[in-house]
Amino acid sequence: MAEQNSIHGLWRSRWLFILAATGSAVGLGNIWKFPYITGENGGGAFVLVYLLCICLIGLPVMIAEVLLGRAGRQSPINTMTAIAKDQQVSSAWAGIGWMGAMSGFLILSFYSVIAGWALDYVFNTASGAFSGVTAQQSGEMFSSLLASPLTLLFWHSVFMFLTMAVVARGVNKGLEKAIQVLMPLLFILLAVLLAYAYTLDGFGQGFDFLFSFDFSKLSSESVIVALGHAFFTLSLGMGAIMAYGAYMPGNVSIGKTVLMVGALDTLVALVAGLIIFPIVFTNGLEPSAGPGLLFQTLPVAFGQMPFGIVFGSLFFILVAFAAWSSSISLGEPVVAWAVETLGMGRIKAAVIVGLVGWVLGIGTILSFNLWSDVTLFGKTIFDTLDFLTANIMLPLGGLLIAVFVGWKMRQNDVMAEAAMGNPLLFNIWHITVKFIAPVGIAFVLYNGLK
Ligand code: TRP
Repeated sequence: MAEQNSIHGLWRSRWLFILAATGSAVGLGNIWKFPYITGENGGGAFVLVYLLCICLIGLPVMIAEVLLGRAGRQSPINTMTAIAKDQQVSSAWAGIGWMGAMSGFLILSFYSVIAGWALDYVFNTASGAFSGVTAQQSGEMFSSLLASPLTLLFWHSVFMFLTMAVVARGVNKGLEKAIQVLMPLLFILLAVLLAYAYTLDGFGQGFDFLFSFDFSKLSSESVIVALGHAFFTLSLGMGAIMAYGAYMPGNVSIGKTVLMVGALDTLVALVAGLIIFPIVFTNGLEPSAGPGLLFQTLPVAFGQMPFGIVFGSLFFILVAFAAWSSSISLGEPVVAWAVETLGMGRIKAAVIVGLVGWVLGIGTILSFNLWSDVTLFGKTIFDTLDFLTANIMLPLGGLLIAVFVGWKMRQNDVMAEAAMGNPLLFNIWHITVKFIAPVGIAFVLYNGLK
């Protein structure tokens, strides 16, 4: 099967696959979500569990997901159908693709709203509105953004349009081009901000918060959030990485490539934490401030540092770009499916997917203002969507992927497609995917939801 080519095109090199997958992985999850959930879940112990989840579950599942994509060379739904047929197992396994498509829509809908915050902040920062602001003023400015549904809707619309414009252009013309420039720039700016954070009085305290373990702060809900975030940050469990794997050249070793993506993704999250928490402690802010953490803390720093307007505007531009290169991977699986199966043009498919995501996103927008007291199990619409997708649907998708690759596929086919080169490495991975990942996910899901 591996010799077949994708109708959507191929990444021109292994490096471009790494860039694209890193572009998908590195996004709001690393810069916005990781710091705030770390703050909410007490710091160090949560970070440790998250890192364990990345290594023991995330990376092995990521290898499995890329492998499936490359073996099937189609959208996740059709890939799963084709491989299930080839392996003579039930076609119900295509359900992985269908559930993934659903998770994709739901995540895209709120992802675009949050990315809209970053767009709004580009202009806020550039206008100098943050010069010399106190932590309290910065918090008030963030609240006033949330209180304005029309502003949120405007930026959500802009972001969704940008996302679908790239998806509509297709893999080579759209996705590759944007990512090549933006990813390196983001890394450079993060390094600059890290250097700044290092000069702050609160750096040591921020560092300790992230890396000293206090297990008394860890609840079973924290563990499920850590696992869910491992999936979210690596873009796993819904087919995004499977779709990207379908465009990966056949001769590339999957294992090394995935390790590289995982390492870059983790590095960016930890650096974001090392930037944000020193600012939090230096300015007497609350680590557990919630989804607004990034947006309340950084403006205070930008308002004080030399060239803060420049660095600040550039930073939020890059956050928006990181989100952009992620959100296109949320839309790609469904768009690829519509092109293959419904014979639709890419543009039309992208417009439809974008419209559905846009409408769903309105629920998230309203959950921050007019509908803020509409709750389900005590969670707002946004919190519910986030919890349902990241903490339940993605791990469940990952569990099914691990079981499928570990138990349902013929081991010889798996070995050939993985092309690990080294039998020992292959065995370690195969055992992890067969036993550790599924048992780990099942255990955490069971305990967290009980
Ligand atoms: N990984 C991205 C982030 O951290 C978000 C993302 C993109 C994603 N594609 C995904 C999450 C697919 C889950 C599934 O911001």
